Amino acid sequence: MAKGKTVYFCQNCGYESAKWMGQCPGCREWNTFVEEVVEKTASGKGKAPGREAEAVRPSTLDEIQFETEERMSTDFPELDRVLGGGIVPGSLVLVGGDPGIGKSTLLLQVCQKLSRKMDVLYISGEESLQQIKMRAARIGTFTSRLTLLCETNLERISQVIQREKPRVVIIDSIQTMYREEVSSAPGSVTQVREATGVLMRIAKEQGIAIFIVGHVTKEGVVAGPRVLEHMVDTVLYFEGDRHAVYRILRGVKNRFGSTNEIGVFEMCQEGLREVKNPSEVMLSGRPQGASGSVVACSMEGTRPMLLEIQALVCRSSFGIPRRTAAGTDLNRVNLLMAVLEKRAGLSLSSSDAYVNIAGGLRMNEPAIDLGIVLALASSCKDRPVGEKTICFGEVGLSGEVRAVSMPQQRVTEAAKLGFEVCVLPAVCLSAVKESGGMKLIGVSNVKEAMERAL
Ligand code: TYD
Ligand code: MG
Repeated sequence: MAKGKTVYFCQNCGYESAKWMGQCPGCREWNTFVEEVVEKTASGKGKAPGREAEAVRPSTLDEIQFETEERMSTDFPELDRVLGGGIVPGSLVLVGGDPGIGKSTLLLQVCQKLSRKMDVLYISGEESLQQIKMRAARIGTFTSRLTLLCETNLERISQVIQREKPRVVIIDSIQTMYREEVSSAPGSVTQVREATGVLMRIAKEQGIAIFIVGHVTKEGVVAGPRVLEHMVDTVLYFEGDRHAVYRILRGVKNRFGSTNEIGVFEMCQEGLREVKNPSEVMLSGRPQGASGSVVACSMEGTRPMLLEIQALVCRSSFGIPRRTAAGTDLNRVNLLMAVLEKRAGLSLSSSDAYVNIAGGLRMNEPAIDLGIVLALASSCKDRPVGEKTICFGEVGLSGEVRAVSMPQQRVTEAAKLGFEVCVLPAVCLSAVKESGGMKLIGVSNVKEAMERAL
């Protein structure tokens, strides 16, 4: 019998330590260390198992056959885009997100679409077959090429996969899976890591695409999928407010494509529905002629997205003014307020300020700086920005408005949605060839932007 070694793991980020610690040096979370026994098996760590050293030979680049990887479309254009053009056979995709956000629903819908053309196996360790059937009944009709299995033992799962040979496998949730040889409980860092290792071998050896669901919890009861991020090929996060209907699928890591892409979905009675034009959705219900409301444009990957930035500036009744930012970075908002104070002569130091990105989304692209600045200035002066005006640009510390990427795409998107005036960095003017009938106002600093837009 192999001897076990006691190791302490941070349940949040997977940091490994020989002693217990109160705070994790890796992720700075408190009380996340849990003791686990790591068994050393006969093949042992640190020793290459089995293969003879002579049989292993490195190859030159010329010897490697270049295969253009075939991609399987999921028939969900939003998901395909985030994946970088479709599912790559043999890839391991981690779908993370808070419990109840809709991961199982999304993957069951993917199964529904994929099973029209290939064999798909859905393995659930969380729900019974009846529960899955109930969910499936809400989503629609399925073909018989989708098979379901309730199982948590990975040895048995890999046998089933060997026998059934599906093209795509879904593992609903990695936290419930376990290997018998590993003594720690399912959901612990060791189990989650081992289980992912097994799945990775299956995926690579047999060319099966595997989707793994991982729950993220902050409490450290279950190992966050953070520890697997470096093992898998693609990491997608499903985010959004559980009480709102919109969900965003965001690529965090992708070995086969860009990581900036997002997919927008809407949760409805029959499962998730794609949102084809998120800008239109984000701008619905915008107040008319109100001060402090500005439309800005942010690039999410290759797609421009219009969003409404709202600001409320009012006199503070306490010594220390209150500032909050929902949907964007508070530090950035503080910095932009300091710029406004110093470079545009706005007196904000004794004012409360609340900044909000409408629609419950998070946007951090610097190109929305100009939008935040104009929203703050508009609210402070109580002068509305034109309803048909949109703006983008990065703001620097000396109050200058700096260039941003892809101005043409942003202008085109705004013109498509009926905007008539665009305030943009003056240096970007030459890059916009086609204005689509919009009036372009190039500005070089914050003061000029305020004069032209307010
Ligand atoms: P689920 O996919 O179970 O979440 P996860 O697997 O991420 O834990 O999603 C559950 C939520 O979605 C639940 O609150 C109910 C809601 N839902 C709908 O609104 N419509 C539907 O058609 C389905 C299947 C679920
Ligand atoms: Mg689920």
